[in-house]
Amino acid sequence: MSERVIPLIDQRLRSHAATVPAVAVPATGLLGDALGRPLRDLRISVTDRCNFRCSYCMPKSIFDKDYPYLPHSALLSFEEITRLARIFVSHGVQKIRLTGGEPLLRKNLEILIEQLAALRTAEGRPLDITLTTNGSLLQRKAAALKAAGLQRVTVSLDGLDDAVFRAMNDVDFPVADVLKGIEAAQAAGLGPIKINMVVKRGTNHGQILPMARHFKGSGIVLRFIEYMDVGATNGWRMDEVMPSAEVVKTIHSELPLVQLDPAAPGETAERWGYADGSGEIGVISSVTQAFCRDCNRARLSTEGQLYLCLFATHGHDLRQLLRGDASVSEEQLASAIAAIWQRRDDRYSELRASMPPDASTGGRRVEMSYIGG
Ligand code: GTP
Ligand code: 5AD
Ligand code: SF4
Ligand code: SF4
Repeated sequence: MSERVIPLIDQRLRSHAATVPAVAVPATGLLGDALGRPLRDLRISVTDRCNFRCSYCMPKSIFDKDYPYLPHSALLSFEEITRLARIFVSHGVQKIRLTGGEPLLRKNLEILIEQLAALRTAEGRPLDITLTTNGSLLQRKAAALKAAGLQRVTVSLDGLDDAVFRAMNDVDFPVADVLKGIEAAQAAGLGPIKINMVVKRGTNHGQILPMARHFKGSGIVLRFIEYMDVGATNGWRMDEVMPSAEVVKTIHSELPLVQLDPAAPGETAERWGYADGSGEIGVISSVTQAFCRDCNRARLSTEGQLYLCLFATHGHDLRQLLRGDASVSEEQLASAIAAIWQRRDDRYSELRASMPPDASTGGRRVEMSYIGG
């Protein structure tokens, strides 16, 4: 019998209580962390479930039928999420990304989107509201998502070849259905659409050029992501990482590219444009070229834990503040969140760069399917 280890269960329970500081921290929209980084981007995970089993994220051997997903009572309600989101916005958040697991599995997600779309920044601007999806339910849901106020979507797609794609999602899901979902999103006006392809050397690197050819000139931005050592279950190995420099070289040899300036500070992707002007691609190089220096991203887990880094070893429990006996005012909640951000000094990818190539960093990190990409 193969050994079955689920290190992440303890991991999910590892959290620090969020407390209201004795001295209030007012919401000025100018909050900085210990390294001077502002808070701009909030990623909210709305479910820890997914209908795919990508081996780099939710390997079947661990995420099987006995896996203890969160019970419904543990999830933040839409009202709780919106209450927290409003406070994050008062601290400077301008972009909200809904993630999972697969966010479209959360029932009535449109209602949450409507609530979030009504929020305004201190300057009165609407937020950039987007969602990361595997695309399997997009065909059915794109129009309703747009009507609820979603602006754009990012679709994960790891190959165009049906056999490769089915092997990557590991549930035999056909690529044609995701492509139809992308078309539906385009038709609904959920753009600019981005496609995220995680490249695993030896598994789907042969799909780089077919994917580039397919999306070139479509108005869709294809982004190649270095396979990361997130979580504790994906059996990550450095030799399966294809450095972005190699991805760019591969594409450039057939479809000439020129480097573009970043569109926004703290961006994950480096941008490259086709020399013939027919659009752009991106590369996300968190393994070979860390981008922690300007990281302005906070992550809220499905059950209300605030994570300060994708590679964090614990969260900060905001749900217990929301649901605790003493009723907490908005100002107190805002102060508690501010105090957590002000102490943030995470920069995992930068630190990993100084580790030996295959150094194990321990099995204590949180899973990406739990806090979202
Ligand atoms: P846009 O605003 O659409 O450009 O989105 P984004 O690039 O900020 O977010 P997205 O979720 O599409 O990020 C793409 C991928 O980059 C994720 O799936 C992760 O693999 C990786 N990524 C995103 N944020 C971080 C981060 O803070 N740290 C690291 N190491 N990787 C990240
Ligand atoms: N490495 C890189 N990206 C990952 N994702 C999940 N697991 C990993 C990993 N190990 C990201 C992918 C996917 C999104 C849902 O999460 O970008 O598209
Ligand atoms: Fe699901 Fe996305 Fe993770 Fe794949 S990468 S298992 S689609 S959450
Ligand atoms: Fe931000 Fe952590 Fe990713 Fe660095 S590793 S970019 S600090 S989330």
